[in-house]
Amino acid sequence: MPAERFVAQLNDQIANEFAAHQQYLAAAVYFDRLTMPQLAGFFYHQATVQRGHAMMMIKFLADQDAAVVVPGVEAPTTDFDSVVGPIELVLEQERRVTDQINLLTRIAREEGDFAAEAFVQWFTKQQVDAVITMSDLQTVARRSTNDPEAIEAYIWREQTPREHPQHRPGEDGSVPA
Ligand SMILES: [Fe+2]
Repeated sequence: MPAERFVAQLNDQIANEFAAHQQYLAAAVYFDRLTMPQLAGFFYHQATVQRGHAMMMIKFLADQDAAVVVPGVEAPTTDFDSVVGPIELVLEQERRVTDQINLLTRIAREEGDFAAEAFVQWFTKQQVDAVITMSDLQTVARRSTNDPEAIEAYIWREQTPREHPQHRPGEDGSVPA
């Protein structure tokens, strides 16, 4: 059984991950309404990534017979002044999640719970990547606030998943269909 303090904090984090899911979803819907399909698709995907994080945490607790609290979720922000707004908001959110993950690591360490610490380590790495990705996107969005197509092109070029090579014809050496 993981340490009690760790279980309590991880349950809080499950709520945070679901809140992050809702915020990414709200951003995706906003971009969808602006007919920015690249950005919308990217944010819809990021939402499912956050849900995946919550599910991993639920499984970690359930597998060890620790209590899981299925949380109520905080309402996301849905009104934005410009295309930069949702991006700034999720960058802030990812920075906050980084602090929350660091707290989980600190608790696991203080409790001498090595399994818990190993579990959290994967999220630490994820957070580094998430902050870099959103920070880069914020830079692009700020300099292209009045040129949404430039932001769309950036997502197409830099953030289209490589496991879907049909979106990047020829880049993996294959002949496009
Ligand atoms: Fe997450």
